[in-house]
Amino acid sequence: MVEGRPRIVFVPYPAQGHITPMFHLAHAMHHQHGFEAILVNPNFIHNRLIASSSGATDDPDNHGVTYANIPDGLHDGESIDFFSISHAMENHMPCHLERLLKSFETVGGVSCVVVDLLASWAVGVAERCGIPVAGFWPAMLGTYRLISGVPGMICRGLIDKNGTPLQEGATNFIKGQPKLNPEELPWLIGSPSSRRSRFAFWLRTIDRCKSLRWLILNSFHGEETNTENPLSSPRIFHVGPLPTHSLTPTLWCKDSICIEWLDKQSPSSVVYVSFGSWVDPIGDDKVAELALGLEASGKPFLWVLSTAWRSGLPEGYLDRVKGRGMLVSWAPQRDVLGHGAVGCYLMHCGWNSTIEAVERGKRLLCYPVAGDQFLNCAYIVDVWKVGVRLGKLERGEVEEGVKRLMDGCCGDGEGGEMMWRVMALKEQMMGRCGRLGADAELNAFVDALAN
Ligand code: UDX
Repeated sequence: MVEGRPRIVFVPYPAQGHITPMFHLAHAMHHQHGFEAILVNPNFIHNRLIASSSGATDDPDNHGVTYANIPDGLHDGESIDFFSISHAMENHMPCHLERLLKSFETVGGVSCVVVDLLASWAVGVAERCGIPVAGFWPAMLGTYRLISGVPGMICRGLIDKNGTPLQEGATNFIKGQPKLNPEELPWLIGSPSSRRSRFAFWLRTIDRCKSLRWLILNSFHGEETNTENPLSSPRIFHVGPLPTHSLTPTLWCKDSICIEWLDKQSPSSVVYVSFGSWVDPIGDDKVAELALGLEASGKPFLWVLSTAWRSGLPEGYLDRVKGRGMLVSWAPQRDVLGHGAVGCYLMHCGWNSTIEAVERGKRLLCYPVAGDQFLNCAYIVDVWKVGVRLGKLERGEVEEGVKRLMDGCCGDGEGGEMMWRVMALKEQMMGRCGRLGADAELNAFVDALAN
């Protein structure tokens, strides 16, 4: 341990769905365990946090979490995607992180670097500086098991060396998990031309993380059922769901006017629609089908729809749904999901959004798009049975899905049964046992660090 107040450096992957849970972990380590917590972001993220001037950056002490930014080699106006971020992480950021870590040597040093597994470039940097490293997986245990199981799947002949399944149809790639179709595997998402480099990214991640002794997950006890072969290495700490608060740093300005609009709606009447922070465009035709399905459902809806996606809206649509449909570019999502007017959430099954919705007892309409979202969806629909899958996102399916969930919110019918189940899942996740379990896991991690 370093002298004085021990210091932990946190390195998230530079995207909203990763910064959010890492911030909450840093916040908990500071407030519950007295660590100095430093969150390191590349310049392009740091600038956006400042520009959105919301959350932690406008608080004088950042809620106890200090921000550090390092150069990323990205130019103003450059389009930023998975590949440009990978390039920045591999080629520009390591030497700057190393310099930052070494700068602490004269002021007590660093007790631990917590690295998001998608930012595995930082594992070697911390090791070179002689600092203990903990991995952080911002999603569920199931997706970690699936991805870290890739080398074993290759050995067992389930997938080839490019990650392509060797048998057709849906398969349990990991025993005890729901079945996935080949195109739903996290490493096969995206255009065929990009698959090879995405798969290489995952192989590199798995290889770099082999040396990790500790892995912190934003998962909760009991999220998986029927799992076999519990992992023995690295030692896993389930600290989820991490305690959240409304002052999470965000990369976009929140449009809080939608809360005033929700205040005027009837209880449990509104469909909330959002596809998270970073999703490949679903295409104009899907946006149009979704728009028409929401219109046909007859329910009021609040839709987070970026300007870039609005070209898919049918002509005259906004006039037709005026008063009943509200569109925003970025919502205060936790407040929206906690609002009594919201009856269900049509989502992309991002892990943060999933736990935020369950924490607030909302049923889900699922249209997964990328990465871990297909496995999350399989748990929501097939294991926990708190949501409905939208296969093709056609208008009739959207209308039908909304009716299945929203009719029967008083405890009867399919929607009512889902409501009971989501409340039970919420209790498992957030109730006394869930909370005490997560706190105990965080305590155990702090003990492991000290020994
Ligand atoms: C991605 C993956 O989808 C996710 O599964 C993985 O665990 C992290 O990376 P993302 O697509 O951004 O994340 O989705 P999600 O995990 O749901 O995170 C989105 C976050 O943005 C949530 O915390 C949500 O509250 C917030 N958000 C989203 C807003 O605050 N306002 C919005 O309008 C939309």
